[in-house]
Amino acid sequence: MVSRSADNESFTILNHLRSLANQVLQYENLKLGKAKLAWNLGVADGARAWAPFMNVRHNMGTSAAAAKAPDHDEYNEGHQVPAVLEKEVAERGDDPQTVLSKYWGIMSKTYNKEDGSTWAWNCFRVKDTYASNVNIDLGKHHKPENLVDSVAYWTVKSLRIPTDLFFRKRYGCRAMMLETVAAVPGMVGGMLLHFESLRRFEHSGGWIRALLEEAENERMHLMTFMEVAKPAWYERALVVTVQGIFFNAYFLLYILSPRLAHRITGYLEEEAIYSYTQFLAEIDKGNIANVPAPPIAIDYWRLPKDATIRDVVTVVRADEAHHRDVNHFAADIHHNGKRLREAPAPIGYH
Ligand SMILES: [Fe+2]
Ligand SMILES: [Fe+2]
Repeated sequence: MVSRSADNESFTILNHLRSLANQVLQYENLKLGKAKLAWNLGVADGARAWAPFMNVRHNMGTSAAAAKAPDHDEYNEGHQVPAVLEKEVAERGDDPQTVLSKYWGIMSKTYNKEDGSTWAWNCFRVKDTYASNVNIDLGKHHKPENLVDSVAYWTVKSLRIPTDLFFRKRYGCRAMMLETVAAVPGMVGGMLLHFESLRRFEHSGGWIRALLEEAENERMHLMTFMEVAKPAWYERALVVTVQGIFFNAYFLLYILSPRLAHRITGYLEEEAIYSYTQFLAEIDKGNIANVPAPPIAIDYWRLPKDATIRDVVTVVRADEAHHRDVNHFAADIHHNGKRLREAPAPIGYH
């Protein structure tokens, strides 16, 4: 018995050594770039032993049930090149199953949608999607009541003039370009409140998350519109320039007067509602083609499969109305001499 046990032990040790030697050889191959390692569980011997150290693409046997409950057990060692990036990966000549890292990565599971198709996005999850409240009052307007409000109002009105001159009726391009700016205030405000929370050892009342949610939502508007309007090189250059100026200006403004900063953003959102209303009018007149909605928009706003760009503009406009309310609310809190943390933040307000 003792001898058999010793034999088993030797055999196990030998197997471990063999496996280790294989792993070293594979790692060397990886380093030298001589071979791209692609492992599929159940296909290559030893893959299961190697898999915990690598991010590999494999089917984890997802189900519609998993897609409905993304909050639980959301991570595993699986990795999937998102469908939207497969073309890019193929153009580079890479194997989409190429090992990305030898380090144990925290990778999200793959999910299937209710229709059985694979969830295509790594940039957002099922839990981040929502059905927009399009019944929100679009005509709500904050009347300037004091000097700060008037400064904010006329600043925004004056910014509209060069914007109208530059874009004229190119609403798709206009939406795409303006979303690059619209995603700045929430990030700046959220960032500054984050640092304030650290400095003062106190909670933000949820406002950090609320403002970062707004920034992310605006960025998703951009990710959507760039699917239907491709920026020219000079438009990209303009975005870089405007971002450099606007970020710094808004950053300083938020430090000096968060009340004015939020009020300006509130009025910017009112202008955005107006612009998207004009966008819809042009679609209805037939001046802009009512093309199918990009897949990213269908998933993000839970739109029907046959949704069009008109549906997308409608939900984006509703988002802008929500941002308008959040920012005028924030400006009012400051106007009343309070700090944002003293009023509950409108987290998840869509
Ligand atoms: Fe937006
Ligand atoms: Fe907005």
